[in-house]
Amino acid sequence: MQKEYHMFSGLIVPLAANPETAARLYYITKEANGGRTTWKESSFLYELENENNFYLGYEFEGEIVGYIGCMRILDELSINNFAVLPNQRRKGIGMLLLTEMIRMNVAAGVRHFYLEVRLSNEPAIFLYQKVGFENISFRKDYYVDPVEDAYVFYKQEPNLEVDK
Ligand SMILES: CC(C)(COP(=O)(O)OP(=O)(O)OC[C@H]1O[C@@H](n2cnc3c(N)ncnc32)[C@H](O)[C@@H]1OP(=O)(O)O)[C@@H](O)C(=O)NCCC(=O)NCCS
Repeated sequence: MQKEYHMFSGLIVPLAANPETAARLYYITKEANGGRTTWKESSFLYELENENNFYLGYEFEGEIVGYIGCMRILDELSINNFAVLPNQRRKGIGMLLLTEMIRMNVAAGVRHFYLEVRLSNEPAIFLYQKVGFENISFRKDYYVDPVEDAYVFYKQEPNLEVDK
């Protein structure tokens, strides 16, 4: 995957599996979650190396400032990681990452998109709803540190609301 996607003044780039990228994803994740994450640099490297996984980053002024990570199994995609640095938010970067991830996977034959989100995470919930995801289920105590329930959100393609 060498192709780069030019968007706004930054780039959407596929992320390679290497320790530097894993360290950057760890940093962004921690910053994006108030200094807390249950993930480690080694977990990101493991995820990046998994051939079922697919990670996109948003590069601005030479640095990755946001990313999205998914796992694809046949025609299903599960969005497992998604974060934008606090000082880069509300610029449309999250929306670009999410819609580009969907577009690329629709092109690859994916029809079913799933994700979990904390009940209290209004920014992410608003974003997912804007892109056409719907709440289909609930998982008790799904998250740790802090413990919280999750909504399960789902979107089926073809039905890319952002194209309308
Ligand atoms: C969720 C997250 C990735 C969104 O990134 P972002 O780049 O700020 O999102 P965008 O600028 O593309 O926002 C797109 C739309 O989402 C909604 N949205 C985003 N942040 C919002 C907020 N704080 N409050 C209300 N709506 C919000 C809005 O509808 C927004 O469109 P608008 O700015 O035109 O009103 C970012 O807030 C983040 O990293 N949060 C912490 C990590 C996280 O929660 N990840 C998701 C785990 S499920």
